[in-house]
Amino acid sequence: MFAISGRVIKGEGYGRKIGFPTVNLDRRDFLKLKKKPKFGIYAGKVILPTGRAFRAGLVIGPRDKKGLPKLEAHLLNFRGRTPARAKFIFKKFLRPFRKFSAEKALKTQIQKDLKKC
Ligand SMILES: Cc1cc2nc3c(=O)[nH]c(=O)nc-3n(C[C@H](O)[C@H](O)[C@H](O)COP(=O)(O)O)c2cc1C
Repeated sequence: MFAISGRVIKGEGYGRKIGFPTVNLDRRDFLKLKKKPKFGIYAGKVILPTGRAFRAGLVIGPRDKKGLPKLEAHLLNFRGRTPARAKFIFKKFLRPFRKFSAEKALKTQIQKDLKKC
């Protein structure tokens, strides 16, 4: 188990479009990690500045042009405004990140991942 805390940034809005909005952490927070975690999809928790905790599906990767991986989480049963900061707690590695040729297949896979969270 490991955790990453940081500033929340604006995502591309694609998660929301496919029905799984995500909270995105500043990618630079990845650089602060001493031990680099394995890229992929994890089950875990997200703690907000209010202290509220949500079970979540977490994503590390893939890398962008600068070489930094995306850090994002879909919080289960979360309704509300995007928080300013968040703490991601990565508990269980579920699978590697992979490319999907169809949006429907990606949505089905995300649903499966979230059941494990
Ligand atoms: C639990 C979970 C697993 C995901 N797994 C993949 C994946 O394997 N491949 C993929 O292309 N996108 C995957 N996604 C979706 C992408 O990360 C998607 O681009 C993202 O949610 C949208 O980011 P945005 O906030 O920048 O719009 C996953 C999302 C979640 C919440």
